[in-house]
Amino acid sequence: MQTTYFLFVAALALHFIATSSASIIVANNQNNTVDLNALLAFKAAIFDPLRIIPTNWSTSTSVCNWIGITCNARHHRVAAIDLSYMGIAGTIPPQLGNLSFLVGLNVAKNSFHGHLPTELSRLRRLKYIILEGNAFEGELPSWLGALTALRYLSFWDNGFSGSLSGRLSNFTNLETISLGFNFFTGNLSEELSALPKLKLLEIQYNQLAGPLPQALFNLSSLQIVAFTNNSLSGYLPARICDYLPQLQGLYLSWNYFEGEIPSGIGECSGLQNLSLSHQGRSQKFIFGGLKCIKNFFL
Ligand SMILES: *[C@@H]1O[C@H](CO)[C@@H](O)[C@H](O)[C@H]1NC(C)=O
Ligand SMILES: *[C@@H]1O[C@H](CO)[C@@H](O)[C@H](O)[C@H]1NC(C)=O
Ligand SMILES: *[C@@H]1O[C@H](CO)[C@@H](O)[C@H](O)[C@H]1NC(C)=O
Ligand SMILES: *[C@@H]1O[C@H](CO)[C@@H](O)[C@H](O)[C@H]1NC(C)=O
Ligand SMILES: *[C@@H]1O[C@H](CO)[C@@H](O)[C@H](O)[C@H]1NC(C)=O
Ligand SMILES: *[C@@H]1O[C@H](CO)[C@@H](O)[C@H](O)[C@H]1NC(C)=O
Ligand SMILES: *[C@@H]1O[C@H](CO)[C@@H](O)[C@H](O)[C@H]1NC(C)=O
Ligand SMILES: *[C@@H]1O[C@H](CO)[C@@H](O)[C@H](O)[C@H]1NC(C)=O
Repeated sequence: MQTTYFLFVAALALHFIATSSASIIVANNQNNTVDLNALLAFKAAIFDPLRIIPTNWSTSTSVCNWIGITCNARHHRVAAIDLSYMGIAGTIPPQLGNLSFLVGLNVAKNSFHGHLPTELSRLRRLKYIILEGNAFEGELPSWLGALTALRYLSFWDNGFSGSLSGRLSNFTNLETISLGFNFFTGNLSEELSALPKLKLLEIQYNQLAGPLPQALFNLSSLQIVAFTNNSLSGYLPARICDYLPQLQGLYLSWNYFEGEIPSGIGECSGLQNLSLSHQGRSQKFIFGGLKCIKNFFL
């Protein structure tokens, strides 16, 4: 599966290289210089013990031929950076904000650290940003809301911290928010809104507190909600499936919820997994109607 995926990506990259290389040779224009300078700044900010990037990212060839770089066929501009699983370390330099055609940034499973530069807010075409499995730190940037094309955001397993209150709103196109295994605090305030396309919301293993906000139950596209191991409290609304008709997985274990398990939860037609175990202050959850649910942990 993984191999097939990588072959597919490699084929895709080769396709782009093949269709773009002819004009790349003559393309000595300003725009490509901007991309080149941005990637040279990135190269200088990367520590690569295997020395793949220092040798491969050579100015004697177009950036579109560099490992991990995909250019778009029409403009020959940098469209995607994929440096995942490369065993590299370093930081994200502000110059990356100059890659105005960038659609995807993936540096998953390396040892990147530091703060995300504000300049990334200029990446108006960015659809996915995957930083999972690194050591980035700082707050969830407020400028993320400026990235109106963003669909997929994964900051999973990093050192991010600070309050999430008011930070999760106005992501018009966002479908996935994955913030698990960080140090986020605060409550999910009512500002958790204007996320009309959100399907997956994962903030497990953080330090969130307070009740689930009413606004959460307005996000009717939600399929998976994972808040395992925080300090959330309060009650689950009785008509949860009316509010979240697409719900497939609800993970709330290791918190401080109380009250009855809403009897209507068994009527959630798509709900496959429900975990409610280990509610710290009380074990007040009472078994409700769970006939349709495949996996549940109380
Ligand atoms: C640079 O990019 C802009 C925006 O896409 C485009 O309008 C312009 O023609 C490009 N310039 C060159 C020299 O390729
Ligand atoms: C860089 O890596 C790409 C992809 O593996 C390869 O096609 C290219 O020849 C390499 N370039 C250099 C200068 O090593
Ligand atoms: C690129 O980004 C840097 C830092 O954000 C900035 O100083 C520079 O003027 C930008 N523009 C170009 C064309 O490199
Ligand atoms: C979200 O958008 C609304 C309406 O455009 C605006 O009033 C509000 O300040 C925005 N919130 C954030 C956090 O950007
Ligand atoms: C959520 O946090 C904010 C800021 O810390 C606070 O003003 C507000 O009262 C909290 N709301 C709830 C419901 O706990
Ligand atoms: C829920 O959505 C409705 C309709 O879009 C809106 O009027 C209401 O204010 C929202 N409620 C919350 C708590 O966000
Ligand atoms: C919950 O997370 C804390 C750190 O945030 C960790 O120490 C604890 O072991 C976790 N609990 C479980 C049950 O995994
Ligand atoms: C439900 O749990 C199973 C087993 O852990 C998992 O494979 C599946 O992806 C989960 N489904 C959802 C919708 O979370």
